[in-house]
Amino acid sequence: MLEFSLSSAAVPEAETPCAVVGVFDGAPSAAAAALDAASGGVLSRLRETGDFTGKAGATLVLHGLVGVKAPRVLLVGLGAHKDFDARTYARACDDAGKALKGLPVAGAAVWLPALEVPGCDAGWRVRTCALAIDHACFRYTATLKPANGNVPRLAKLELAAGGEAQRGLAEARGVARGVAFARELGCLPPNLCTPTHIAAQAKTIADEHAGSVTLEVLERDDMQKLGMGALLAVSSGSATPPKLIVLQYQGAGDAKPHALVGKGVTFDSGGLNLKPTGSMEEMKYDMCGAAGVLGAFLAAVELALPINLVCVVPSVENMVDGTGYRPSDVLHTHAGLSVEVLNTDAEGRLILCDALAYTCKRFQPQALVDAATLTGACVIALGAHASGLFSADDKLADELLAAGTASLDRAWRLPLWDDYRNQLESAFADIANIGGKSAGAITAALFLSRFTEGTRWAHLDVAGTAWVPGRKGYATGRPVPLLAQWLIDRSA
Ligand code: BES
Ligand code: MN
Ligand code: ZN
Repeated sequence: MLEFSLSSAAVPEAETPCAVVGVFDGAPSAAAAALDAASGGVLSRLRETGDFTGKAGATLVLHGLVGVKAPRVLLVGLGAHKDFDARTYARACDDAGKALKGLPVAGAAVWLPALEVPGCDAGWRVRTCALAIDHACFRYTATLKPANGNVPRLAKLELAAGGEAQRGLAEARGVARGVAFARELGCLPPNLCTPTHIAAQAKTIADEHAGSVTLEVLERDDMQKLGMGALLAVSSGSATPPKLIVLQYQGAGDAKPHALVGKGVTFDSGGLNLKPTGSMEEMKYDMCGAAGVLGAFLAAVELALPINLVCVVPSVENMVDGTGYRPSDVLHTHAGLSVEVLNTDAEGRLILCDALAYTCKRFQPQALVDAATLTGACVIALGAHASGLFSADDKLADELLAAGTASLDRAWRLPLWDDYRNQLESAFADIANIGGKSAGAITAALFLSRFTEGTRWAHLDVAGTAWVPGRKGYATGRPVPLLAQWLIDRSA
């Protein structure tokens, strides 16, 4: 994680290893004009020769400019001024971050937040820029040999803005912490990232904030006593024990809490309905819902938000064994409903149904949001750009959509209508755990809805957004920005 601070220096005067300046394709920004004047017209010449015109996506590093104190200047193309908006701003910040990651500098000062962005205040500009550059500079280290320590790596980032952006800076720090937490946990391989490890990570959060945060970890015996037959069935084929992690943060006396629940399947083999080659390799990421709610919880606690918050994580491994559960098993849940298992690979909803019912019953939250890498169908529907959002509560859905827009961690609402309900009928239990071929993301959400009746609840399917597929993909940290923004908004 980078260290962020605000700066009011002018570009030519700034003492920094690298000054980052945005350049429009056309009329220059104030920072670019200052740079051009101080350097004897370098930007104008680059534009005339066509070497750097300010095209969106372009970056260029200049060294040793006369009249500029910084030894390096990173130019970032902003595109045409008329097209400049929140999204192109964030993209330019991301481009800057990618370029900075490859430079041998320990610090940088960035003037992008000094740009005007329609509809966005200085706090938003600082937060968005800080988070984008921090995100781009992420490095996975947990299981790698230490890097060559002689090459400086970006650690400190100064952002050009006045004191009115202080709040945005603080939010960036809190959210960046939550995002980094979620990404590191998400990337960790499943032989290390077990339910026990996730519980230990929750303990580090509780220990660091001992005054306001408490942790309970329910063990297999506790879950048995609570009648959590669905959660336990998924875990029954695994040699590693299940955990039900309960974090509570008190920031607002005895107000009813907000609640977050996250799917923590540390590896999803599919169980007896084994996933084929090509579908199983990335299933270490099946705990990214858990990582996301823990990261959002951490952000809220770091920001000392004036709310009460609970975070509940059911964590298991879905494996294959003679002790495991089978298709056609009938399970008894904490809520009292029976479930017929028609596919052991639809395990996320089985662990969530017990965790959701438990959270509703025990905490009576004023609102409950779960996050889960729940269905391949959601990836087919929305791809990598939007998380699927499901809620019967229009106001809650609108709050979450707005938080997604503000944080550029967007969700898109899909229906949760009763019309789909007959797809979950079972001849042998109250409900079946799969709903057939069509509308798979919706029937999965409908299944969950049966366990949250009477509570204001929303479900985020992050199967397409929580990680970037492929060998060099990483966990993205989504939906931490969305959830953290939602909690920040609830505190206002
Ligand atoms: N963890 C998967 C969902 C998933 C698949 C996430 C691909 C990201 C990428 C989930 O447990 C699962 O296996 N879902 C099944 C449900 C089906 C059996 C009804 C699916 O989506 O195929
Ligand atoms: Mn599965
Ligand atoms: Zn799964």
